[in-house]
Amino acid sequence: MALIERANPTDRADVERLIAAYHTSEGVKPKPERISWAVEQQMKNRFPGVLLVAREKTKIVGVALAVYAPSAELGRVLVIQDFFVDPSTRLKGVGRALAARLLDEAKAMRIDRVDLEVFPKNEGAAAFWKKIGFRMSGRTMFSRDLL
Ligand SMILES: CC(C)(COP(=O)(O)OP(=O)(O)OC[C@H]1O[C@@H](n2cnc3c(N)ncnc32)[C@H](O)[C@@H]1OP(=O)(O)O)[C@@H](O)C(=O)NCCC(=O)NCCS
Repeated sequence: MALIERANPTDRADVERLIAAYHTSEGVKPKPERISWAVEQQMKNRFPGVLLVAREKTKIVGVALAVYAPSAELGRVLVIQDFFVDPSTRLKGVGRALAARLLDEAKAMRIDRVDLEVFPKNEGAAAFWKKIGFRMSGRTMFSRDLL
């Protein structure tokens, strides 16, 4: 069974590789500089959040990156930005274990709510989140890129 723990600096290359694989799997071209920057924010505690890895022996097989967002309406919100299990290790409980640890960390941070987005075509992820107790919020997200 995978061991879930906070990422440490020696995990950085593996974390960035898995996040890039995640973006590719979503049909998004990975931007290595941006991934590196986002991972560094967490590794150096520049923003409150959680960066977890799932280890099997010496290999990192999963990653979860979430950031804290204060909301006047919702309170302390933890937003899951990246969540990925290596395809060779899926359906063995790694995703569930990563999410369970993330929720434990969230409770320790007195988080009120955990949010995440799923692309409509990602039915597997939707099934996974529903299976572990997440529900659709009913809100529609609007975005505008500034770069
Ligand atoms: C979604 C993902 C994280 C699931 O990880 P995983 O390690 O395979 O999940 P688990 O083995 O812990 O599964 C937990 C439960 O969800 C179910 N589940 C997982 N993936 C599923 C899928 N694609 N379709 C239907 N159910 C699924 C499992 O059957 C299991 O149910 P059970 O406890 O009744 O057996 C993984 O498929 C993944 O990394 N996908 C690509 C990235 C992604 O979509 N991330 C989420 C974006 S928000």
